[in-house]
Amino acid sequence: MQPLQCTLRPQGSLRWVPLASLSWLLLRASRMHSCFPSTTFPSPERQQKNEVQKDFSSRLAIGPTFQDFLRSASVPQEKPSSPEAEDPPPYLTVDELLGKQRKVYLETYGCQMNVNDTEIAWSILQKSGYLRTTNLQEADVILLVTCSIREKAEQTIWNRLHQLKALKTKRLHSRVPLRIGILGCMAERLKEEILDREKMVDLLAGPDAYRDLPRLLAVAESGQQAANVLLSLDETYADIMPVQTSPSATSAFVSIMRGCDNMCSYCIVPFTRGRERSRPVASILEEVRKLSEQGLKEVTLLGQNVNSFRDNSEIQFNNTVSTNLSRGFTTNYKTKQGGLRFAHLLDQVSRVDPEMRIRFTSPHPKDFPDEVLQLIHERDNICKQIHLPAQSGSSRVLEAMRRGYSREAYVELVHHIRDSIPGVSLSSDFIAGFCGETEEDHLQTVSLLREVRYNMGFLFAYSMRQKTRAYHRLKDNVPEEVKLRRLEELITVFREEATKTNKASVGCAQLVLVEGLSKRSANDLCGRNDGNLKVIFPDVEMEDVTNPGFRVRAQPGDYVLVKITSASSQTLKGHVLCKTTLKDSSAYC
Ligand code: 5AD
Ligand code: SF4
Repeated sequence: MQPLQCTLRPQGSLRWVPLASLSWLLLRASRMHSCFPSTTFPSPERQQKNEVQKDFSSRLAIGPTFQDFLRSASVPQEKPSSPEAEDPPPYLTVDELLGKQRKVYLETYGCQMNVNDTEIAWSILQKSGYLRTTNLQEADVILLVTCSIREKAEQTIWNRLHQLKALKTKRLHSRVPLRIGILGCMAERLKEEILDREKMVDLLAGPDAYRDLPRLLAVAESGQQAANVLLSLDETYADIMPVQTSPSATSAFVSIMRGCDNMCSYCIVPFTRGRERSRPVASILEEVRKLSEQGLKEVTLLGQNVNSFRDNSEIQFNNTVSTNLSRGFTTNYKTKQGGLRFAHLLDQVSRVDPEMRIRFTSPHPKDFPDEVLQLIHERDNICKQIHLPAQSGSSRVLEAMRRGYSREAYVELVHHIRDSIPGVSLSSDFIAGFCGETEEDHLQTVSLLREVRYNMGFLFAYSMRQKTRAYHRLKDNVPEEVKLRRLEELITVFREEATKTNKASVGCAQLVLVEGLSKRSANDLCGRNDGNLKVIFPDVEMEDVTNPGFRVRAQPGDYVLVKITSASSQTLKGHVLCKTTLKDSSAYC
């Protein structure tokens, strides 16, 4: 059988890598899984056409010597702290790995994890000498950070690639041709299918391959297509602090874990983002401390399964204590043991700065043991807001989805959370029209929405994804128009209930973290309450209780008390009472 690891891919042809290059790649890829080609080789015809490329290709053909491998194999290699510290691969020089002030335009699609990944990718490229631009027209490199969760998300990227084609054609003969890269989930899911379908794509980098971007771009520079879609068992980008791009920002996201082991039957995420792994607590705390020193007032801990956090990097904590689950919930995998858990992390993070709000997303309902709920209740700066993705209100559908709980267990958890954290805001995700969903199942979801009365909701029509368990085992048998009709019904019910819930806060004074001017009116300011709901209020002078006798106008990053005067399903309106602090706030209702 042909070896599967290859390194450079010329447009339109594919040759396998000599064994020497293969072993070099395997050395670098230790502790990684997935056996998809990393990149492939130039064809001899192209070599004759291009002198620069010839030099590059001949170095490749000569390849590293046996001595090269002995050298790299004999010294145990620590993970480099920055891309510049990394040795170039044998077929590239240090100089070729540098960005040489080329301008990179990054465009992000999908979830907050992708927004964070964009900043990780940028941090790596910045250290390699690239510049960032927000002007598409002047970009030398365009990178799309992509999402695969639903068919529609991918279609958006294909459409965008068609638009970018014209830009690339215009630059075909310029001194610095335009390079286009696909990063993230779509690169991981479709792999070389993207390179085959869109010849103008120069590089692919899966979610665990961003450290390799300087090399991939160097390869793309020579006119080759380059790809690295290896998934990792331990990559958390712990040492890469995302660059804070907006100096006026009041809040930031901090990635604490990556990947998902749950294997819900509809979900592509475990295939595109790989296995769960957590970032060491110490490096998370260091990042949160830095953000606090920069004056940020809110941190959202981020992960595909944020409350499954389990830092097992320190041996002394790897005891045999099993992970506590929410009552009535099970996992699709063997119970995990040892490591520092989410409650420990939340406790530590919330102690860094009592004036810094802490949120986390996106959790799984199975990982809310009492110690987590207790901590949220006790700590002033941990927001009383929990995302509790239900996905369906029917136990039958939940079983087909492999969610590990029944409707009854979920509802019991909701009651337990509301008892443990009075005034908590709840939000959820729902999927309409999953395989085999009957009208009766759908009505059960409608009734769950009415019963729980979420403050926020994210509702989707089911989109079958290849590779998932549902794709292999179930039938996508709810017609598209039925899915859409059910989705509409869920949205209507959700809005009715959320409006009722939000109206209950009319007359209350709520603590709001000011973000800036409202998008709708220059006379209004906008911020978020503890439940993460948008609050709009007129920009007027008010008393500053932190500075008695002074009257001030609210600035981004200030905490203010706002008396709520009206509410819709998504927004609250009110008037500002005073500037205050998180600790001293006496929000009342
Ligand atoms: N189709 C529709 N929605 C999906 N989600 C995940 N996979 C699919 C799919 N195949 C939704 C779930 C998840 C949210 C992030 O996206 O509700 O919680
Ligand atoms: Fe997907 Fe389920 Fe993992 Fe969420 S928990 S990312 S829905 S597999």
